[in-house]
Amino acid sequence: MSTPIERTVRMRRLVLAACLLTSSTYAANESPTFGFGTTPGPDELGRFVSPLADGRGLPKGSGSVADGEKVYQAQCMACHGAALEGGIGDRLVGGRGTLVNADPKKAPMKTVESYWPYATTLFDYIKRAMPLMSPGSLSDDEVYAVSAYVLSKANIVPADAVLDQSTLAKVQMPNRDGFIPDHRPEKFPSVADSLHAQMAIPAPAK
Ligand code: HEC
Repeated sequence: MSTPIERTVRMRRLVLAACLLTSSTYAANESPTFGFGTTPGPDELGRFVSPLADGRGLPKGSGSVADGEKVYQAQCMACHGAALEGGIGDRLVGGRGTLVNADPKKAPMKTVESYWPYATTLFDYIKRAMPLMSPGSLSDDEVYAVSAYVLSKANIVPADAVLDQSTLAKVQMPNRDGFIPDHRPEKFPSVADSLHAQMAIPAPAK
């Protein structure tokens, strides 16, 4: 019989040997095979869309505001409201200037129009997550179209806009400059000097 300490030492040697073995295996062959599965092809990988703010990674396709209105009415309106005012789903438009305002009693209204910094995120979110009950069911053209519709109702793009890989990334969102990467107070401009203060809705008269 070995003592507990002897057993621990032996165990540690075993673990060390196993580690060395594994690391040398990895060094010899960067992608070990485990005897199941297949290497994903471009088609499979192409289903994972993850666009960046500058438009890299957006899929091909395009959609107009007019086409988007049809998609919206059929797939989104029941939850987000006829005027995008919200219901079961979030309000999508309005609220500009409410994120920072002079009235402590007025809650910020966070919508695509007032809050989101990049239009590419809207495309990404709708493509991945909406409609709520069947995410991923829209074609890329439909996602471009319904994004265009939401952005037009938010007065961000004109009613005849057509969005695609290059035009979507060029859309300037109203709150683009509202995200400040440096949170140190000495680096913040005072609220009074900020763009938000200029946009703020004045407090109601007493
Ligand atoms: C069954 C109801 C339902 C349907 C249909 C639906 N949504 Fe939504 N949507 C929601 C809910 C609920 C949320 C909030 C989800 C959360 O916060 O996790 C949401 C969130 C969103 C947001 C994010 C809002 C924000 O500012 O955070 C967008 C944009 C959006 N939906 C767009 C759409 C579009 C476009 C369609 C149609 C293609 C659609 N939704 C269809 C229920 C729905």
